[in-house]
Amino acid sequence: MGSSEKLATLMVGIIVLGHMCCNSNAGYTPPDKYLIACGSAHDVVFQGQTYVPDSKHSSVKLSNEAGSFVASSSGAPFPIYQSARVFTQTTTYEFEIKQKGLHWIRVYFCPIANSGHDLKSASLTVVTENFVLLSNFTFKSYKGSYVWKEFIVNVDLDSLSLNFIPSNNSVAFVNAIEVVSIPDGLIPDQALALPSTPFNGISEQALETVYRLNMGGPLITPQNDTLGRIWQNDVQYLHVDSSAANVSVVPSTIKYSATVSPNVAPNWVYATAETMGDANVADSNFNITWVFNVDPDFSYFLRVHFCDIVSKSLNLLVFNLYINSESGGSIDPSSFTGGLAVPFYRDFVANSSDSGLLTVSVGPDSEAEVGQAILNGLEIMKISNDVRSLDGISPVEHLLPKSASRKKSISIIIGSVAGGVAATLVILLFGCCFVSRKSKTSQQGQSWLPLPLYGNSLTMTKMSTNSQKSGTASCISLASTNFGRFFSFQEIMDATNKFDESLLLGVGGFGRVYKGTLEDGTKVAVKRGNPRSEQGIAEFRTEIEMLSKLRHRHLVSLIGYCDERSEMILVYEYMANGPLRSHLYGTDLPSLSWKQRLEICIGAARGLHYLHTGASQSIIHRDVKTTNILLDENYVAKVADFGLSKTGPSLDQTHVSTAVKGSFGHLDPEYFRRQQLTEKSDVYSFGVVLMEVLCCRPALNPVLPRDQVNIAEWAMTWQKKGMLDRIMDSNLVDKVNSASLKKFGETAEKCLADHGADRPSMGDVLWNLEYALQLEETSLAPTEPDDNSTNHIQGLQLSSFEQFDNSTCIVDGANSCTDDDGEDATTSAVFSQLVNPRGR
Ligand SMILES: *[C@@H]1O[C@H](CO)[C@@H](O)[C@H](O)[C@H]1NC(C)=O
Ligand SMILES: *[C@@H]1O[C@H](CO)[C@@H](O)[C@H](O)[C@H]1NC(C)=O
Ligand SMILES: *[C@@H]1O[C@H](CO)[C@@H](O)[C@H](O)[C@H]1NC(C)=O
Repeated sequence: MGSSEKLATLMVGIIVLGHMCCNSNAGYTPPDKYLIACGSAHDVVFQGQTYVPDSKHSSVKLSNEAGSFVASSSGAPFPIYQSARVFTQTTTYEFEIKQKGLHWIRVYFCPIANSGHDLKSASLTVVTENFVLLSNFTFKSYKGSYVWKEFIVNVDLDSLSLNFIPSNNSVAFVNAIEVVSIPDGLIPDQALALPSTPFNGISEQALETVYRLNMGGPLITPQNDTLGRIWQNDVQYLHVDSSAANVSVVPSTIKYSATVSPNVAPNWVYATAETMGDANVADSNFNITWVFNVDPDFSYFLRVHFCDIVSKSLNLLVFNLYINSESGGSIDPSSFTGGLAVPFYRDFVANSSDSGLLTVSVGPDSEAEVGQAILNGLEIMKISNDVRSLDGISPVEHLLPKSASRKKSISIIIGSVAGGVAATLVILLFGCCFVSRKSKTSQQGQSWLPLPLYGNSLTMTKMSTNSQKSGTASCISLASTNFGRFFSFQEIMDATNKFDESLLLGVGGFGRVYKGTLEDGTKVAVKRGNPRSEQGIAEFRTEIEMLSKLRHRHLVSLIGYCDERSEMILVYEYMANGPLRSHLYGTDLPSLSWKQRLEICIGAARGLHYLHTGASQSIIHRDVKTTNILLDENYVAKVADFGLSKTGPSLDQTHVSTAVKGSFGHLDPEYFRRQQLTEKSDVYSFGVVLMEVLCCRPALNPVLPRDQVNIAEWAMTWQKKGMLDRIMDSNLVDKVNSASLKKFGETAEKCLADHGADRPSMGDVLWNLEYALQLEETSLAPTEPDDNSTNHIQGLQLSSFEQFDNSTCIVDGANSCTDDDGEDATTSAVFSQLVNPRGR
């Protein structure tokens, strides 16, 4: 994948996400809304909202009133800070919750005088049932005279407890509290961790707003935000070298869409922006950069808001977004929104640099007509860590005295696995050893890793690059396992002429692939992993486990491996004609005939059908694409690259819930939306392959006009018009039997159905492709064009192919019968979740 293609693919993914959010929540009335003035004797109006005294609110309970007293002082900066409740013992505010889900928790602190205690040196610790929000915060080390904090917490009980914990010999206090429902969909469960890994489970973490900025615009207070948020001006965060200029339009000109409502951000945010200072002068090639101090021990959720308020007409403004110098993609407002002044946003997850800086930049795209870039708004939220804390590394149960922590210790344990910074790395290593051991002791066992492991692939990748961990070698020792032939490193060196670059066949996410020749003259492909990457280890083991148990004429076979000197080397049968893709486009290899193409598709379909049904537990490939279908010297197609494969749902499950992996462009949109993996996700990807085979173009080509970028969408519109022949490879024109083409088009169309349930099984696909081949060979028009009848050929019933049984051998000749060695085909757990799909 070229890098521009990669970007386009990211965008496609994000657009899919956009559909899930925030439909028509305008005029949102929060089911739960508590505005509490703690310790106050009367209502307090602040920023246009009325705060009720904590003693007077019927749905708020104070657990230990005797352990607290009230204080007030007229000297505080705002009315809300003029009273406080001071706690000498751990005290809990319990809020009745009418509707479970995400809630804002906002807490206000000001160490007022006259309380009888030195509140400036009080140490503030605030925890909910599950999350640590603040830990030992004190005004002694804080420059301001007051502070408020905003958190987002998922409440899954009928009440929410906020515990205020004084440290030894001191007191705690709070001036005001807000607990307010958040509309569904405002915070997604998933966002993109750059460069291209989806980060899951955000909505189950606690978040803390650390920056919320209105670029180029004024301070926006809760009166002007439907969700009571505060947006600050951005100027103080601009990097000095940037020459940004503010622009603004009248807020009422902002046109909200079905996907972005005023709850996402008020029109005041979208109506102003920072733009490039002198955008139209010759040397306008610079980035506008904002720099933020953040706690480097946490990951951050970023929402970047855009709205094209500068262009005179559509399609002029295209620019690039960067987060920490990683590309966040090309931002093309017109094609995302179809109009000017229409807001949209992008979500990301990012870590800071080691020095605790997070940067966001926008800069012009060298190919855009206008050298301009804008940013309208930015939110940065801290994501709770693996001990469910937003502040430090002590979990709730260490901070909260025993009597007060009542509920849910189990969920804390499970949850604490999910957040993972340090712990995830440990789990990764552990998981690796665990599976290794498991596979030795139990061949049959369902050995899924704990699901929360999948929740944090970003951190994982970050960790593996940042901390040069050694000591992983022992984890991948396979010496005592039974995974094909073991090669010594010397043998590999000899076979590849010391990894001679002239023998390089390709470079992938895992490492480099060389052509090699064994002592006996056998040609092999040698895949050498990068020992530095833990994701490589996962893939390495996946491939070995998968391939050593699967033998099929249409799957690339593993000959052996080498793990000497912490090398991760896999030795495969050599596929002389390389990837299918290189026979379709991007090279000057001779064009394949229609019959050859059909035979290749049939071969690949057989390989996938075998994966799905041949083993006692089905296997989902997850990365079906034209570069993973290889051709041997006779153009026999074999499916390769099992680095992402995964055993399918067992009988009592309907799907596998998992982090989305795979290659954008081939990725099943339903899988992306729902993160539920079934065999039908492979069927979708295979549909994309069929279209590539027909049209000889990449799955995504961002250079093309918008409606053509994604082959699946584009080809489907032509297929639905019955005019697929208009867009097919020009080499095929007049050389294809029209009935065969029709059958092929219909098959691809069914594969690309939006809903997995509407897609055929791989067995059906295989059968239909066989039929298309038959039509091509006999050049006979179908006698009965209706679908049911076309599923019968030579008297065989389709149903015999839906189950994997010996009848498949009729199709496949003698080969697959002997290949399938039933017992071994049970594939144990696979741990490919950590794999970054980049560059695969
Ligand atoms: C916009 O820029 C002008 C001129 O530099 C400045 O005076 C003004 O304060 C800025 N407005 C905002 C909201 O930043
Ligand atoms: C916010 O709301 C107040 C009162 O409703 C209004 O006077 C003010 O102009 C609004 N605008 C901004 C930017 O705060
Ligand atoms: C903008 O920043 C990105 C990331 O740091 C960098 O790759 C790019 O070259 C910069 N563009 C310009 C015009 O300086």
